[in-house]
Amino acid sequence: MSSNNPTILVTGGAGYIGSHAVLALKAAGYSVIILDNLVYGHRDIVEEVLDVEFILGDTCDRPLLDDLFARSEIAAVMHFAAYIFVGESVTDPAKYYHNNVVGTLTLLEAMQAAGVRHLVFSSTCATYGIPQFMPLTEDHPQVPINPYGFSKLMVEQILADFDVAYGLKSVCFRYFNAAGADPQARLGEDHHPETHLIPLVLQAALGQRPSIAIFGTDYDTPDGTCVRDYIHVCDLAQAHVLGLQYLMDGGKSEAFNLGNGNGFSVKDVIDVATEVTGRKIPVQMAGRRAGDSPILVGSSDKARQSLGWIPQYPELQDIVSHAWQWHQKRHG
Ligand SMILES: NC(=O)c1ccc[n+]([C@@H]2O[C@H](COP(=O)([O-])OP(=O)(O)OC[C@H]3O[C@@H](n4cnc5c(N)ncnc54)[C@H](O)[C@@H]3O)[C@@H](O)[C@H]2O)c1
Repeated sequence: MSSNNPTILVTGGAGYIGSHAVLALKAAGYSVIILDNLVYGHRDIVEEVLDVEFILGDTCDRPLLDDLFARSEIAAVMHFAAYIFVGESVTDPAKYYHNNVVGTLTLLEAMQAAGVRHLVFSSTCATYGIPQFMPLTEDHPQVPINPYGFSKLMVEQILADFDVAYGLKSVCFRYFNAAGADPQARLGEDHHPETHLIPLVLQAALGQRPSIAIFGTDYDTPDGTCVRDYIHVCDLAQAHVLGLQYLMDGGKSEAFNLGNGNGFSVKDVIDVATEVTGRKIPVQMAGRRAGDSPILVGSSDKARQSLGWIPQYPELQDIVSHAWQWHQKRHG
């Protein structure tokens, strides 16, 4: 690849969503440098699939960041690095505020010192808290109900203030449930611990867990189980490339939801996974979990209209099939 291609620093590029974004950036002609501390990322994916410059390091390490920005001409940053476990953020908030807020602030200060003015940030629908209307739009009040959501909202606020004071332009993408995998099964979801429904269901299909628990079957939803918005990880990655181009074309700082717009219930996911895998998926009925909303579905009209984003894989069938191909390859 020519050295004239703009170089994008991708923090957390060895993780699930970041690694898919790296492939999308490469396909769009960008050069990429990954910064990841590998606390949760995968070295084998970086070395065997992504094939870009890799720096083992932490966003909290200011000297490392200063050195990186000094020796590489970085046009923009995509910032995926964060801790992501909502439950753990409740029991260990210090870990989340330190990594997600202090780590991001350190990165932003280094960017500011180096004159790097564009950032694409992984925010979350968890910043909205308990839904007051549906589908959730970007102007829904942001009232998180856990430290993870607050850590992301704090960063959104810091970014708004850095724009006013220093002219740093950012796109905050508020993702709904990232799901699926690279259709060629080069990459996919591999969290430890895994807390997301689709990989858990696939583990049950492979006999790697005894059953899948359905938390609540008496919600006011079509089949009584919770409804969520699953967005294919490659569609997320593509939105990041568009968001980056928008900023580099002079776009102003914005927040965009990234979701499917269609909700799927827990039972829908299990039914589709049963069909896709051809296996029996043992199910265990459990009570409702505190804090779970019956339905969480976002409107992504703003991203479609402003960025020209068109999701390629909105069907649950595709999302689960791609996840299954990857899951079999990685864990089968
Ligand atoms: N997975 C989802 O459904 C979802 C939904 C909403 C938002 N998000 C956000 O998207 C981003 C990526 O999520 P993911 O599912 O790919 O998670 P992931 O854990 O797979 O990836 C995060 C990566 O960041 C790295 N990392 C963490 N802290 C770091 C630090 N201080 N310095 C350097 N590297 C660090 C980890 O090693 C990991 O490789 C996160 O910011 C998360 O909050 C994810």
